[in-house]
Amino acid sequence: MDHSRAPLVDALAAYHRSDRYGFTPPGHRQGRGVDERVLDTIGRDAFRSDVLIGPGLDDRLARGGYLAEAEELMADAVGADTAFFSTCGSSLSVKAAMMAVAGGQGGGLLVARDSHKSIVAGLIFAGVRPHWITPRWDAERHFSHPPSPQQVREAWERNPDAAGALIVSPSPYGTCADIAGIADVCHERGKPLIVDEAWGAHLPFHPELPTWAMDVGADLCVVSVHKMGAGFEQGSVFHLQGDLVDPARLSACADLLMTTSPSVLVYTALDGWRRQMVQHGRELLDAALRVADDARADLARIPGITVMADELLGVEASHDLDRLQVLMDVSGTGSTGYDAADWLREHRHIDMGLVDHRRILATLSIADDKETVASLVDGVAAWRDQLKDPRPSQIRLPSPKELQLETVELPREAFFGDVEIVPIAKAPGRISAEQLTPYPPGIPVAVPGERLNEAVVEYLRSGHEEGMNVPDAADSSLETVRVVRE
Ligand SMILES: Cc1ncc(COP(=O)(O)O)c(C=O)c1O
Repeated sequence: MDHSRAPLVDALAAYHRSDRYGFTPPGHRQGRGVDERVLDTIGRDAFRSDVLIGPGLDDRLARGGYLAEAEELMADAVGADTAFFSTCGSSLSVKAAMMAVAGGQGGGLLVARDSHKSIVAGLIFAGVRPHWITPRWDAERHFSHPPSPQQVREAWERNPDAAGALIVSPSPYGTCADIAGIADVCHERGKPLIVDEAWGAHLPFHPELPTWAMDVGADLCVVSVHKMGAGFEQGSVFHLQGDLVDPARLSACADLLMTTSPSVLVYTALDGWRRQMVQHGRELLDAALRVADDARADLARIPGITVMADELLGVEASHDLDRLQVLMDVSGTGSTGYDAADWLREHRHIDMGLVDHRRILATLSIADDKETVASLVDGVAAWRDQLKDPRPSQIRLPSPKELQLETVELPREAFFGDVEIVPIAKAPGRISAEQLTPYPPGIPVAVPGERLNEAVVEYLRSGHEEGMNVPDAADSSLETVRVVRE
């Protein structure tokens, strides 16, 4: 296909030249109606490009026209049979994928327990029964790794009627599963594998990056182009191949969840990013990987900072690592990831991608260069230098076993059923009716339908005191918890 084309980018450029006027939404009429103070902040150009898909930009933008062509180019660029653009992030895409594979079927879905909260939301929406695949735990570092093919095989042996399997790879820390091995295990049973590849939009475009799901036989994957690519927030794509998932059913499931007013800005940026990646991705990612190598080496020289790489890989750990995710264990300084991140934010105006009790993560992208990582290295070194009286983490961490809560009810039943609110001290032993998710990375510690235990409640309480954010709890101060009424 001709990847010098970017049909949506061209259509929007033509719209700008055409001087058309629409008596249609959006009511701001390309910014004419917008308050000057808003224009001063957002810029008029953003409004000029915010056009109604269909009659606004061009009738041919509807499926079958420019959009379909842009999606075909995207699929071709990454080796998928079909690609669909979506404007509500992987949060929507993954739900649609789950509904397409397991919705309305009794067998449930094999789901990695280190899943993002949007996957749990998908279980609640679709009423799907999760059969959890336990991640591998590094108890010493308190870190979970994506499941192995053997763990997925065991999950299939316990639940042969499940409709398919869903894993997350890369994780928000950049650690990756053996997708090829897991796809084989699923295909031995003629069942599809969905990969939540929200953090992997860039993977198809450089051979040094971890395996791209479509290259090794996954049936369906979803990516967030805004995370590791250069899309606007919410820009996501579903990629599909083979015949285990029906594209018409997937499209219909996405349609159930999708807005009828998708953002042209989001779609156009997806289209332009695909062209950029096909034409220049290799060299751009090459440069980003070299910048990441240098950053890793410089950060590793700071006393007490361990830049994690090899310790994340191995038979009992992850299969691969995206080295653009620069994960630093700061526990050797005697302090916490929360302290480092707060200090960097306040004193250096640097925001970290992810923070936990002992780690901070810098997510690098094609936009980073020597200068941006120099400010990171300098900032982390300055934090270390001023650390005269470090306060070690007081979080009471559960053991891997304690983290495995018993599933008592379907997430949907627990979420929508009769609930009561109890003080957190009374929560152990009760069935959670809500997700309790330290964010980031957004992996729920408790899922609706799971029985809370003392260790998990203590972890959340002590974590909250130290700076952990649990935004999806109805009471994010964590004084109370929503539980199933007894
Ligand atoms: C593993 C994973 N899946 C899905 C999502 C949801 O992606 P989005 O923010 O594009 O909705 C996230 C977001 O952080 C994520 O980390």
